[in-house]
Amino acid sequence: MDLRIKSVSAVLAAATLCSVLLCGCEPEEPFTTSHTVITAPTDATQPDPETLPPISTDEVPGTQTDEPDTVTQEQTEPVTEQQTTTAQTTPEPTTAPEKDPDIPDFTVDLSSYEKYMNPEDRDAYLILVNPSNPVGKDHKPTDLEPLVDTRPDRSKRYMRLYAAKSLEAFLKEARANGCKNVTVTSAYRSYDSQKEIFDGDVKKLMEKGYSEEEAIAIERKDTAFPGESEHQTGLAVDMHNLSSAQPAFADTYEAKWLAENAWKFGFILRYLPDKEEITTYVYEPWHFRYVGRYHAKRIYEMGMCLEEYIEYLANN
Ligand code: DAL
Ligand code: ZN
Repeated sequence: MDLRIKSVSAVLAAATLCSVLLCGCEPEEPFTTSHTVITAPTDATQPDPETLPPISTDEVPGTQTDEPDTVTQEQTEPVTEQQTTTAQTTPEPTTAPEKDPDIPDFTVDLSSYEKYMNPEDRDAYLILVNPSNPVGKDHKPTDLEPLVDTRPDRSKRYMRLYAAKSLEAFLKEARANGCKNVTVTSAYRSYDSQKEIFDGDVKKLMEKGYSEEEAIAIERKDTAFPGESEHQTGLAVDMHNLSSAQPAFADTYEAKWLAENAWKFGFILRYLPDKEEITTYVYEPWHFRYVGRYHAKRIYEMGMCLEEYIEYLANN
């Protein structure tokens, strides 16, 4: 099915879902990291300039004073009247080029990624997939691209082109800001691979003594049922620097930086700690979802989960 059509139906379905789920919820607080200033751990910062040896001007290009003086032809020619006039004209006051408020400041040059992080068609990546809005078994994006930041010991992971490029920019900037060893452990998953994960975990829980019904109920809090995972859209990614995705990742500098800055690259932290009743999943500090910067910024600023935002759009 065409994703845009799916998005529209998802809006309507989500509106129904959220109106039911929101009823009776505690008053919602904005996502708690939204205004926190994240500082890189000291060992992740650049060396203290005070500890560096003094820089000799001899070593700085452009400061040498022992270059032979050369007199060029232009310098020796007489100044024409026109040149004199030009020299005496008061120059136009120059103003700094206006900064686009929709382009955040980055440490590294990400200009070549801008078109991906902020897609022209800003609604093209707003698909909602959850237990109330499944996708078909055969749903598979046609623009999957390999991810450069796939964990080296894993087989290559894939996302849709715009998400893949934006993720590349996200992790470049993350590294420049002191995030260490964050790599992608999962991204696009087919219906069959989602089923394999889900069934495998259910089996393990049953081996621990849970009934099948209990095991499925437990597993559904962590892992989407096949067809209900947004990993199948090619727009979701799991990334962290632990041996496996664990709640402890939330306490790391890396998790906080990623959550705080994701919107700049068009991503949202999808399963928030205070939205479990709405999303139906536990907090996943490693799971990010690409929606494009326009919507990511608004979702982040409003402290909403995607279900709430889709409902908000439907009502506004
Ligand atoms: N862990 C998320 C909910 C998924 O399986 O899609
Ligand atoms: Zn995930």
